[in-house]
Amino acid sequence: MKESYQEYKDIIDDFLLDYIPQIDNKSNVLYESIAYSLKAGGKRLRPVLLLAACEFAGGTIKDALPYACALEYIHTYSLIHDDLPAMDDDDYRRGLLTNHKVFGDAIAILAGDGLLTTAFEVMNKDMYLYFDNLEQLKKRINASYIIAKNAGVQGMVAGQASDMEVEAKDCSSEMIEYIHLNKTGALIVAAVKAGLYIASSDNEKMQDMTAYAENLGLAYQIADDILDVKGNAEELGKATGADANRHKITYVSKNGLEESEAKLKYFTDNAVAAIEKYYDNAEFFRDLVLDLSKRNK
Ligand code: IPE
Ligand code: IPE
Ligand code: MG
Ligand code: MG
Ligand code: MG
Repeated sequence: MKESYQEYKDIIDDFLLDYIPQIDNKSNVLYESIAYSLKAGGKRLRPVLLLAACEFAGGTIKDALPYACALEYIHTYSLIHDDLPAMDDDDYRRGLLTNHKVFGDAIAILAGDGLLTTAFEVMNKDMYLYFDNLEQLKKRINASYIIAKNAGVQGMVAGQASDMEVEAKDCSSEMIEYIHLNKTGALIVAAVKAGLYIASSDNEKMQDMTAYAENLGLAYQIADDILDVKGNAEELGKATGADANRHKITYVSKNGLEESEAKLKYFTDNAVAAIEKYYDNAEFFRDLVLDLSKRNK
């Protein structure tokens, strides 16, 4: 495994644009809009997790890379759509104006559609290379299936839909957890599981790392809600106070900052505990969740 998060992130940043298929010049604005959001940066958490999980279980970066990039396309599409006026109506993302602020709502919607569809094109193209090697093909089908499932109506899209629905209404703690697990946790779980599938991981690792990822996902969204209150917009690259302005029910609005910070620590500790038995080999994942619990962007 690589030593640092940055090493994995550099690989993603190097290859992310390369998997986007050639787009006809006549639709150049579509390419510009897609490239704008991909190049805007971002922490690349999901693809980093995918690559690291794959190496952790003995697989290679080369095998995992198309799936890692595909997952970042899906995540980026989810952010472009999340920022639209019909959803969170935000003006800044990844330190730049949001996609629709630059290209207009129609092109932003289509850039999201394009990124989502391209993710599956990239994964299918890779699978096609292994048409006559059933063992290699199966690993990849498993990876793309978990990505599809967790990005879709049993995962991220479902979480986003509920998130929209409860806006400004009271909602139970159970509902908040459901939303977090789906809108944010599902892609994080998919990242880890897809990486493990590509490496043909054993079941025990799959279960432990899934528990790790679920807890990381919950911690990650609570941290996001806390940063919306306590963070610095410049560092974050997106507006703060946005949730309160929309009277959104978040973990923080429901439970207060102190309890949210306690819960962030609780899920972080759970994530660490889930992989304890892997000792030094899981140091990367332990440090990652500990660092993220203290993140300011
Ligand atoms: C933002 O995701 C939305 C959430 C699910 C919390 P990230 O905080 O991972 O955003 P980027 O990719 O770094 O911009
Ligand atoms: C978004 O949650 C989760 C997604 C699936 C995009 P938020 O709406 O809280 O994310 P930010 O704060 O806009 O990044
Ligand atoms: Mg949102
Ligand atoms: Mg938002
Ligand atoms: Mg947020």
